[in-house]
Amino acid sequence: MKVGITFNLKRSETELDEFDRPVTIEAIKRALEARGHKVKLYEATSPLLFYSLTIDRPQFVFNIAEGKYGAYREAFVPALLDELRIPYTGSSVLSLAISMDKVMTKEVLLYHGIPTPKFKVLKVIDPIEIGDLNYPVIVKPIFEGSSIGITSKSICENDIELKEAAEKAFRKFKRPIMVEEFIGGMEVTVGVMGNFPPQVLPPMEIDFSTLSKRELKASPYIQTYKFKTDYSDKANYYLPARLPVEVLQKITEIVKNAFIALRNRDVARFDLRVDKNYNPYILEVNPLPGLDPEHSDLPRIYKLMGKTYGDLINDILQVAVERYRLETKISYNHEE
Ligand SMILES: Nc1ncnc2c1ncn2[C@@H]1O[C@H](COP(=O)(O)OP(=O)(O)OP(=O)(O)O)[C@@H](O)[C@H]1O
Ligand SMILES: [Mg+2]
Repeated sequence: MKVGITFNLKRSETELDEFDRPVTIEAIKRALEARGHKVKLYEATSPLLFYSLTIDRPQFVFNIAEGKYGAYREAFVPALLDELRIPYTGSSVLSLAISMDKVMTKEVLLYHGIPTPKFKVLKVIDPIEIGDLNYPVIVKPIFEGSSIGITSKSICENDIELKEAAEKAFRKFKRPIMVEEFIGGMEVTVGVMGNFPPQVLPPMEIDFSTLSKRELKASPYIQTYKFKTDYSDKANYYLPARLPVEVLQKITEIVKNAFIALRNRDVARFDLRVDKNYNPYILEVNPLPGLDPEHSDLPRIYKLMGKTYGDLINDILQVAVERYRLETKISYNHEE
């Protein structure tokens, strides 16, 4: 098949963004070529993107473009592909836009009775207070990924710390922010693959206890930006997570319901915390999960399942192709 890859390229290792490293694009290209596909690359920031896709008309696009500007940037390339009627892997414009907004994501989850930590939105003119939340809380930007804006200072134990963290976040992001009850306990990330029905992969535990004292100070048992960029290879990963079977089953059930509720397609990764009483909470969804062959969690999950990076990439393409094939026969959701 003639497959295009749409992506945003990281220009330098120090750039603070969510874009992909050249090695990731190359690895995806090689994985697809190894299964006989003819692959062409499309850098999504190019002003010629619309033109090249119109002229080339790939049969399918493997989309990992995060988009550059605006709160809903991940939806840009899928909107273009919809307009050109070129099929692509992954979630729709609506689903990607919802998941860019952590508050909207949580509102959808709550509507469906799916557990997510209690939260409050603060606008710059609001008094900085926690209302009916309980300390500790964590202050987060609403529209960022890759733990951008999350540091050890984001966790607040009292009003003074909250004021400091909130004011800093307002200055940095110039948008409303979110204050969320902090869930101590275990960090778990869960992959989902496919559609009819979605297959929830075994939950993966991220164990921070192998980090040094200094590293834990910068990243106190959470995934800060520093952790994602510098420490992620130093953590321990357990698949499945070291939890009782009933808890793993409960996680699988809520993640599957969340995938459906959030209109996700083909692939996604959910970040969760599990408190000391074994209650799981969904923090957020990543419908364009990182595919860095060395540092991303979904490739890690596949490796721990005994599968290869090539399997992962080709599974994503295959479930998307299958979905399009079935969509021509049945209209299974209201977006069609
Ligand atoms: N309510 C919470 N309780 C405990 N830890 C939290 C909470 N919210 C966030 N964290 C910690 O901060 C990390 C980043 O938070 P979150 O996943 O919401 O942000 P992100 O920047 O969107 O990350 P991603 O790269 O997955 O998109 C989490 O993985 C977790 O370690
Ligand atoms: Mg996350």
